[in-house]
Amino acid sequence: MSAPKLVGLAGSFNRPSKTRALVEDVAGRAIDRYGFDASIYDLTDVGPSLGQAQWRKELDETARHILDEVANADALIIGSPTYKGSYPGLFKHLIDLIDPHELRAKPIIITATGGGDRHALMVEHQLRPLFGFFMAHTLPTAVYASDRDFTDYKIVSEPLSARIAEVVGELSAFFRHSNPALAAAE
Ligand SMILES: Cc1cc2nc3c(=O)[nH]c(=O)nc-3n(C[C@H](O)[C@H](O)[C@H](O)COP(=O)(O)O)c2cc1C
Repeated sequence: MSAPKLVGLAGSFNRPSKTRALVEDVAGRAIDRYGFDASIYDLTDVGPSLGQAQWRKELDETARHILDEVANADALIIGSPTYKGSYPGLFKHLIDLIDPHELRAKPIIITATGGGDRHALMVEHQLRPLFGFFMAHTLPTAVYASDRDFTDYKIVSEPLSARIAEVVGELSAFFRHSNPALAAAE
């Protein structure tokens, strides 16, 4: 049986990026636990054709490939920086190019970063309804990280690490059988 496919999508074009670091941390733990085959992308990977494209067919090959990977993934980790209390417009534009049926029933871990705690509920008030439109399975625990949770783009906060462990555990409802140890414990 081939490994299930996990795709992480960070809605930041900064390098380095706290959002990408967060998505990579969540992905690393999910790989350890469930043996995913994983790819991680950010808006710099998607590239400049995104801003010009009104339709998916107008994207260049690289950007189209990334959206195909997102659509075909068995699970997604979405990460977004907070811009003005919400996700960046360019990130939303990428999501706008996904057909409504492509994320239906897909398990999605939603995560975000922001400068402080003021907009911590953006994961609940912005990201969760966005993926609710697609009728995706956003996992119950959403993860928000602020600047002080990172040192040199590495997560240094114990409470944040515990929250990440929680949401990675919630994937077991979908991927129990991908991990022989979990399956044997049944
Ligand atoms: C245009 C812009 C708007 C921002 N607006 C907010 C905001 O409303 N609330 C907040 O907490 N942080 C805000 N920030 C800070 C970023 O969300 C924060 O630095 C984020 O972690 C950057 O992620 P990155 O390192 O992945 O690019 C803003 C940053 C920029 C550039």
